[in-house]
Amino acid sequence: MIARTNMITRLFTFAAMLVGIGQVGAQNLVALPKAALKQSDTPEKIELGKKLYFDPRLSATGTVSCNSCHNLMEGGDDGRATSMGVNGLTGPRNAPTVWNAVFQASQFWDGRAVTLEEQAKGPMVADVEMGMLGHDQVISRIKDIAGYTNDFQIAFKNDDAVTIENAVEAIAAFERTLITPNSALDRYLDGDEHAMSETQIRGMELFESIGCTECHSGPALNGWDIGSDAEFVEFPRFDTSPFVQAYDLATDLGRSQATGDNTDDHLFKTPTLRNVTLTAPYLHNGRVSSLAETCRLMASTQLDVELTDREADDLTSFMSALEGEFPEMTFPRLPSRSGESVIQAKVGSAINDQS
Ligand code: HEC
Ligand code: HEC
Repeated sequence: MIARTNMITRLFTFAAMLVGIGQVGAQNLVALPKAALKQSDTPEKIELGKKLYFDPRLSATGTVSCNSCHNLMEGGDDGRATSMGVNGLTGPRNAPTVWNAVFQASQFWDGRAVTLEEQAKGPMVADVEMGMLGHDQVISRIKDIAGYTNDFQIAFKNDDAVTIENAVEAIAAFERTLITPNSALDRYLDGDEHAMSETQIRGMELFESIGCTECHSGPALNGWDIGSDAEFVEFPRFDTSPFVQAYDLATDLGRSQATGDNTDDHLFKTPTLRNVTLTAPYLHNGRVSSLAETCRLMASTQLDVELTDREADDLTSFMSALEGEFPEMTFPRLPSRSGESVIQAKVGSAINDQS
């Protein structure tokens, strides 16, 4: 699969060179689309999805929202090696960014959800994330807040609209607004030769010539293109690389965790590199804290190439050209119950109140 894609890419690159399509040295890279909404993503649905995204009351303890681990005021991640959910519990994997998550053919490091809607069902009931007992509990929590019933009715034009399907549809509609076009690379690809610095261009040329684009191609630099199916690649591909031991890269079996098929061992989704400068630490286990080191590691584990310091710096500099324009955003006002919490007090707290 990899070899075929690579060959097609190379043929295309060669053809593009002959006819002179695109900017010099950017044959496998494509500008990020400037919109990703579906026709059914109405402003009411998006606004409801935004409320749900920011609402920590969808977690067992009332303290963890989607934004706790995917902070939209920053890189759309949590800056931690692995995430911390309710009651201080930590999971095994690093939180990927939600910025531009719409531009990928599957969700999660192992691609176990195909759509954003399907993905959004997971965290609310994951015990190390938002920790709710089941989707029924989520729905009854939402129904206990009258303002939400109203918002669902307006967004879905239906009296009995508070369902988990509608909740995740609204969250996904909101996530489709989380895109960051107009990075320096996008402006360069659109014809502005001065949008990228010399070092960034040198880094881009190396990124292509050394073979990073075998996997990191297309608008989100994750191998995705409009309508493409999910693909998974071996990581680490060269398991004799010294980085494998140093950063414990072979323990998490990736895709096979989702499929139960051991021929899928060590397959992972290629992550986006958009805004990657903002989302340290890196990799599925969050073990690598520096981007330059991650580039050295990738060259070694995926391409069996040892980078010089200057090459690693050039690649890192290219990645700074992938920081896009973040949309202006206002905080939603969350519907509230007058004088009463929806989070169950622990047994005994009423007595404590009297003491
Ligand atoms: C406790 C932290 C935590 C919370 C809360 C959380 N997530 Fe995540 N999220 C993660 C982690 C960790 C992963 C990667 C897990 C994996 O791949 O196994 C992830 C993966 C994702 C992905 C896939 C991104 C990709 O590139 O594959 C999306 C989209 C996402 N989360 C959205 C959400 C939404 C929406 C919510 C709220 C309903 C939410 N998350 C709540 C930690 C969290
Ligand atoms: C054969 C496919 C392949 C090639 C070639 C490849 N990568 Fe990757 N890249 C991946 C996969 C898969 C991951 C996710 C690894 C994981 O599961 O932790 C990744 C992760 C990354 C990350 C970390 C992203 C994050 O958010 O944690 C960076 C940075 C990166 N690659 C840069 C590069 C560079 C630079 C090159 C060229 C030197 C390169 N990659 C070559 C497949 C590839």
